[in-house]
Amino acid sequence: MIKIAPSILAANFAELGNEIESVKSADYLHIDVMDGVFVPNISIGLPVLESVRKTTDMTLDVHLMISSPARYTARFAKAGADIVVFHVEAETHDNTVAAIDELHRLGKKAGLSVKPGTPAEKLIPYIDILDSVLVMTVEPGFGGQKFISAMLPKITEIRRVIDGRGLCCEIEVDGGIIPQTARLCIEAGACVLVAGNDIFNAPDRQARIAELRATNNEQCSGINNGTG
Ligand code: DX5
Ligand code: ZN
Repeated sequence: MIKIAPSILAANFAELGNEIESVKSADYLHIDVMDGVFVPNISIGLPVLESVRKTTDMTLDVHLMISSPARYTARFAKAGADIVVFHVEAETHDNTVAAIDELHRLGKKAGLSVKPGTPAEKLIPYIDILDSVLVMTVEPGFGGQKFISAMLPKITEIRRVIDGRGLCCEIEVDGGIIPQTARLCIEAGACVLVAGNDIFNAPDRQARIAELRATNNEQCSGINNGTG
């Protein structure tokens, strides 16, 4: 099954409760945390996540675009994240493993993300202990950018490892997702589509979520065996 994760980066933050309500038919709510250091932009942090947690039962998929994220992964988990995803480029190996273990101890899902310039091999040492891999299909930091199609082979490479080892790890794609690029990503092996502008700027958000979710998912249903 294809999962849809609207990114609130494209929402009107002054109306955040209503904005979340408008996309509640989606599978995850994607929350982008940026520190102005790991990426050249600043978005939102713990207090906003805590407020969002109180207002929705949606699965909160928190994408940390911050440096040294292991300092904060447990705090985001305790603030209400269900899935905490951080960047493999931003941490040491030991801290990465420790943060993943800690998230699991807290009953949360753990994910690692890769920037466009980072090869899939960087994720491979962790893939057996991950619940999610997030492949950035734009440079992280801003919504509304153009999809980088050169990321498609990376998705396929990761998919092969996951399937080859019989793992349940989900592959998310993030950046420039519209119906056309969604199809390419799913054909390449992705199962979770993060979309900001495409959903929040759609005239009918629920309809757009349904449309994205209905993207041909033959490959995915086979991959996840009904568990994903
Ligand atoms: C970018 C963020 C994305 C962003 C995607 O760094 O990680 O989640 O919101 O926005 P769109 O879908 O508009 O490209
Ligand atoms: Zn994101």
